[in-house]
Amino acid sequence: MATRRPDRNASAPRRAPASDNSRSTRDGSAPRDSRERPDDPALYATKNTLPEDTRKQVIPLLNQRLAECIDLQTQCKQAHWNVKGPTFIALHELFDDINEDVEEYVDLIAERVVQLGGIAEGTARIVAERTSLLDYPLTLRTGAEHVAALSDVLAQFGRSARMSIEEMDELEDADSADILTEVSRGIDKWLWFVEAHQQ
Ligand SMILES: [Fe+2]
Repeated sequence: MATRRPDRNASAPRRAPASDNSRSTRDGSAPRDSRERPDDPALYATKNTLPEDTRKQVIPLLNQRLAECIDLQTQCKQAHWNVKGPTFIALHELFDDINEDVEEYVDLIAERVVQLGGIAEGTARIVAERTSLLDYPLTLRTGAEHVAALSDVLAQFGRSARMSIEEMDELEDADSADILTEVSRGIDKWLWFVEAHQQ
């Protein structure tokens, strides 16, 4: 039976960091905020034959998955670094193997956004603002605690990737659907690897 970690759903709502007007750039100009985005961003010109209207709808959906995927990757590393106990080496290595694959998924999703003429939005600040994954508690210690936490977010991300496959099918973007299928297939495999420790 896995040890349940503290209730992560009860965490305080996310707050935007306080603005820091004291910062300035080297040339003295006002610092740019990575979260500044036009409401209706223009696409880069491309000879890609997917209709512009389709690309405009696909890009924000992919950027949402990108934020979650980057969040997931940081959680894999958090588990890799901090796990303790008799199963340390097995889990330490497993969590890093997952991290490596998730890093590839991050790249696949981000580069698909750019291929479609969009801007991949993957800064830490935009990820923190946008991700819908459960927050990873900093207090987890045992293998069972990390297995429970990481399996939760793997399952959660797998679900949203599958949801996006359907969205891409509806938008008739077969290639984005294919990328998300690859991602969700890999996530399902890693969920199996992690969950096997608590079954
Ligand atoms: Fe390491």
